[in-house]
Amino acid sequence: MKIIELQSVGSTNDYAKGFAKQGASSGTVIWAREQTAGRGRQGNEWISAPGNLFMSMILKPKVDVEHIGQLSFLFAVSLASVLETVIPASAEIHLKWPNDLLINQKKAAGILIETESQATWVVVGIGLNITNAPEGAISLQEIGVNAHNAESILQLLAKEMQKRIEHWEKNGFQTIRAAWLKRAYKLGREIRARFPKETLTGVFEGIDMTGALQLKMSDGTVRLMNSGEVFI
Ligand code: BTN
Repeated sequence: MKIIELQSVGSTNDYAKGFAKQGASSGTVIWAREQTAGRGRQGNEWISAPGNLFMSMILKPKVDVEHIGQLSFLFAVSLASVLETVIPASAEIHLKWPNDLLINQKKAAGILIETESQATWVVVGIGLNITNAPEGAISLQEIGVNAHNAESILQLLAKEMQKRIEHWEKNGFQTIRAAWLKRAYKLGREIRARFPKETLTGVFEGIDMTGALQLKMSDGTVRLMNSGEVFI
């Protein structure tokens, strides 16, 4: 796995997309110490001061295009597995649909997956709060993680992702789905979620094989949601 280190960049996702278009090989990772135009999901800004982790991986997955969305769950699970080895036992990790990582019920990391229409390449970006976090979010330092920095976590993460990608390409989504559900935020409980056309309340039943959220409504019907945001 090749890691390209940058001191400062607008957005590692944008840099990686440019690189992917020029034919960069699958598995290339772009890592920046700071971003000046970091982007989150749904057009949000991702505040990117030095100290935190900002990385994007270019992938050319050997799977059908309809399975590409599974990658954000794969990355969330990889990140959770790595962080579980570095956080104190008193801290708790949850994965919030579709791909936020929460520590003690506050956002610690987010994932932004981007592709072009043919999905010949995919860029998966991860932002992880290590030394600083915006208002309402949480950093690893706040829960007492001092022995790790962006570089050491990136090394652990790159190995974990490589292992999980190989397994996924051979065996499919089942293992990732189970690992994600094991850590899912509010599984089996009532959630409120904003979807493209409406905001709904229902019981979070799980995710299907495409990663869509299964929401059980009060009339017993189960609605499948492909994109949206669950409120904490
Ligand atoms: C979110 O939760 O809204 C997703 C945040 C993704 C942030 C990362 S930081 C590295 C990569 N480059 C970007 O501009 N965004 C992603």
